[in-house]
Formats: sequence, C-alpha cells, structure tokens
Amino acid sequence: MAQLQFDVRIYQRLGSTSDEIRRLAAEGASSGTVVCADEQTAGRGRYARRWFSPPGNLYLSLLLRPAVPAPRIAELGFVTALAVASTVNALLPKGVRPTLKWPNDVLVNGAKIAGILVEHIDDAVIVGIGINILHAPANASYAATTLVGCGGIASVDTARALLLKRLADQIDMWQTLGFAPIRHEWLTLGPTPGTTVQVTRDGQTMAGRFITLDEDGALLIETPQGRQRIITGEVVNQ
Ligand code: BTN
Repeated sequence: MAQLQFDVRIYQRLGSTSDEIRRLAAEGASSGTVVCADEQTAGRGRYARRWFSPPGNLYLSLLLRPAVPAPRIAELGFVTALAVASTVNALLPKGVRPTLKWPNDVLVNGAKIAGILVEHIDDAVIVGIGINILHAPANASYAATTLVGCGGIASVDTARALLLKRLADQIDMWQTLGFAPIRHEWLTLGPTPGTTVQVTRDGQTMAGRFITLDEDGALLIETPQGRQRIITGEVVNQ
C-alpha cells in the first residue's frame, strides 16, 4: 500500500483547524488533507473543552478516510500519540523523554505537552493535534508544559515537518500490520504496570493499578472491586 500523501494548507488564523477540515471533508476533500493554523480562536479539546491556541504552538488537523470498521477508529488516537511522542522526543534535549497517558495525551515530566482529538464523522476521521511549543495554559485543570520550557526546539515549522513524517510512518505501520505493533510501542511509553492511575468516567473517579492496554486500546486496571476494562474516560492522575 502506498504511503499517505499529505496536502498541507497553512493559515494564519482559524477558529479551529478541525472545524475547517470538517468543512473540507463535506466538500469531498481527500484522505491526507492537512489544515494548520498559526493561531486558533476557537480551539477545541476533548469533552468540548477549550484548547489554548495562541501563536507559537502547533495546531494541525488531518483528514483520513481509513478502510477499517468503525470500532477500530479509536486506534488512530494511539497511532497519533506515537507519532506525536516521537516528534516531541526528537525536539527535546537528550535525557528528557516523553511519556504517554491513556488514551492519547503526551506528557513530559508528568505535564501535558500535546493533546489529540479524534472525531469520526460519516465516512471520515478528523485527527486534531496540538503541541505546546512556546505556550501552555496557566489555569488548566491539569499540569501543562511546553517544548521550550523543557529545553527543546522552538520552531513550529520544524515540528510540523517532523510530525507529518512520523504520522505517515505510523499510519503506514498501522495499515500494514494492524494495531498490535502500535499497542506494543505505546506500552513502552505508557505507565509502568502496577502504577496507580486515577480514571474519570461519566463523572465518577476510580483508582486502580495499571495492568495493560488491551488489544483494542481499552485500559485495563485492577481496582479493589476487581478488574475494570475502560473504553471511554480519561486518566487524570498517573
Ligand atoms: C485534548 O483535549 O487533549 C485534545 C486537544 C486537541 C487540540 C487540537 S489543536 C488542532 C485541532 N484543532 C482543534 O480545535 N483541536 C485540535
């Protein structure tokens, strides 16, 4: 299968790159269309949260039309997290390493440096990625950091070029070999088995020890009430 070709469009300012991709998708844009903006005025995060989007960070959305059944679309969040982690890793000084928090966050020194929003609409998937290069929100409900704050490289153009290359490689691996190698790689950067993680789901928080990432991307934890298999929700503390 040929590697995905990107058609990259860069804007100075948009409401949300994911909204713009959604509009292009409705007009029939092809898989591999990419929209970037220097700044977003209505950047969106998971759970309809606002995504802090001043100039100086990377905001990118990718349109995909993958030939996989709908239940497998969530795998793309993990595929993307690996591409983002690899990009961040290449831009950080030696000895500073990114880690992954279920389902799709990329952390450095325990603080969020990048977020990923996967949205499924009709026959298309929109993968939105934000990487904090210069700025992190000061009043978020979680600890946030930036590439520059961690001693890394500050160019949005460099980060974008690297990210697109890594995305093409990871998506190619996923389409050729399936989820197993993605899961394997995710586990090398995810929590150490036995670590206590706190998960929120439907407004409820539970704590348990991380067991593994299941073969479909579900989070497996051991709680005092027994083993839990979590499909939606987020880890709030790891
Ligand atoms: C999260 O909540 O962690 C996901 C954040 C995703 C932010 C990116 S920035 C580019 C794209 N456009 C948006 O409006 N959101 C995503």
